[in-house]
Amino acid sequence: TYVITQPCIGVKDASCVDVCPVDCIHPSSGEAGYEEAEQLYINPDECIDCGACEPACPVTAIFEESAVPDEWKSYIKINADFFNGQ
Ligand code: SF4
Ligand code: F3S
Repeated sequence: TYVITQPCIGVKDASCVDVCPVDCIHPSSGEAGYEEAEQLYINPDECIDCGACEPACPVTAIFEESAVPDEWKSYIKINADFFNGQ
């Protein structure tokens, strides 16, 4: 699973959304069924680990789960929690 971390907050460039082949990055702008959020999140149950989103992000917010820098490890759970109850 890939994870979106702190640099996305307030940026939400959304280039990642455009390249994801399974549309598992939410909430894209105005997306039905999702509350607006300060950053975007990857649904760990739907991500197929293709890696396409990682180089697409201009602020290097996206990492494979095992490669998330220590200071942003909490974002692994933050991404997963966003989809609980959706
Ligand atoms: Fe989507 Fe691939 Fe990124 Fe997973 S790794 S969020 S499937 S683009
Ligand atoms: Fe955020 Fe980067 Fe995607 S800023 S919305 S993770 S392209």
